[in-house]
Order: sequence, then C-alpha cells, then structure tokens
Amino acid sequence: SAAGNDDAIEIRVAAVDDGNRLMEFLHEHYYREEPLTAGCAPPEPDEADEKFLLSNLPHGTCLLMLQHGRIVAAAVAGPKTADEAAHLFAEAAHLAGSKWGRILGILAIAERDANVFARFNVDRALHVHAIGVDAALRGRALGERLMNALADRGRDLNYPLLTVDCTSIYSGRLMKRLGYESVNRMPYTDYVDVAGQQLIRPPAPHEFLETFALRL
Ligand code: ACO
Repeated sequence: SAAGNDDAIEIRVAAVDDGNRLMEFLHEHYYREEPLTAGCAPPEPDEADEKFLLSNLPHGTCLLMLQHGRIVAAAVAGPKTADEAAHLFAEAAHLAGSKWGRILGILAIAERDANVFARFNVDRALHVHAIGVDAALRGRALGERLMNALADRGRDLNYPLLTVDCTSIYSGRLMKRLGYESVNRMPYTDYVDVAGQQLIRPPAPHEFLETFALRL
C-alpha cells in the first residue's frame, strides 16, 4: 500500500537453492518478453540457456527482490574477463542451429564491439545477464532499485565495472536514467546469416541491443 521505500520490499543475494523459484519467476516475468527469447522460435528458452543463468548463482552475484516473501523482481549477473567475446563466439559455434546458439551469436558480436575491457582499462567486470520485474508491478522503479542494489553488491565484491546488454527498449531507458554510459548499439536488422536473413526478430518496439556500462 505504501509508496517509496516503505513497501515491505526486501532485496537479497540469491542462493544456489533459490534456483527453482528463480527459474519459475524468470519463465513468467522475463523469458516471455525478453526480446531475443521472444524473437526466435520456439518461444521457450533452451535448457542450455536456463542452465547458464543458474550457473551464476554460486558467484553470489544474483539478486532477488521479495515482497512478503514472494519474488517480484530478479537480476542474474556474473563475472566476465577479457576473453569473454572469444568464449561467446566459441559457445555460439558449438551450439549452432539451436535457439541459445543464435542468441549467443548476437551476444558475442555485442561483447566484441562494446570492447569494455580495453575501453575502461579493466581486466574483469560484473555482467548482467537478465533482469525481470513482475509484469503487474512495472513502472514503479523496482528495476531501478534492483540495479542500484546490484551495483552495491558489485562494489562489495570489488568489481571495477558493471555491464549490461539491454535487449529491451525498457531496460535501456532504465540504464540511461541511472546514468550508465551507452557503449554500443547493434540494430537487430544487422544480425543476419550468410544468405542475409535476419536471425532474430524481436517484436516492436525493440529495435536494437544496446550495451551499457557503469564504473563501480
Ligand atoms: N512493456 C510495456 N511497458 C513497460 C514494460 C514492458 N515490458 N516495462 C516497463 N514498461 C513501462 C512501465 O509501465 C513504465 O510506464 P509508466 O512510466 O507509464 O508508468 C515505464 O515503462 C518505465 O518502467 P520502469 O519502471 O523503468 O520499468 P521496470 O523497472 O518496471 O521494468 C524491465 C523494466 C525489468 C525491463 C521490465 O520491462 C521487464 O521485466 N521486462 C521483461 C523482461 C525483459 O525484457 N528484461 C530486460 C531484457 S535486457 C536484460 O535483461 C539485461
């Protein structure tokens, strides 16, 4: 009922055994709308995608936002180092032909072009892989509070940089509002196969993947 921060909302680090309820939340409030997932068939994420997101839990870098014990928002983040683009290209090649392989392919290009390790002269960064807010609670700055808590967590763990690939126009607006620096923008029409066919077709109004960074 209350506005502002007096709304019984709590943010905490997600533990490994939160994996099942985190994934249940992501299915309902992240994957259905996330533009890359929504932009290529089938509608459900690959198991490799889910496994990858859950593999970030042991790092202590994923956050849950709870209201009266119920998950209302979640952020999945994890460490990356300067070999990240090469690693993503290799994974994408290995999984070629699958939905997750296709998604990794565009993430690899974005990682290479954003070039954050050289750009910010750092050797590691905390990278946000997913953020979702309960669809019924959007527009109340919950995403903003969660991203601020994630930046605090990154500082506590001595990460020099926080990065995020915003596949959604809404998450992009959020990072801009929070003062993140836009470092690269890739139109979805640029991600094509050898025959020139667009590989991922996110629904309107999402037109590009924009990479943002924040020094911690
Ligand atoms: N569809 C339509 N309108 C939306 C959406 C949406 N998906 N998201 C936010 N809005 C609107 C809000 O209603 C609000 O409108 P208002 O100002 O008229 O009230 C406005 O946009 C601003 O909303 P925010 O408070 O900035 O957004 P919020 O923090 O609630 O949620 C988020 C942002 C997390 C991106 C949310 O849209 C979401 O969960 N989307 C689904 C999953 C997704 O796409 N995640 C981001 C992908 S990129 C990544 O994960 C790294």
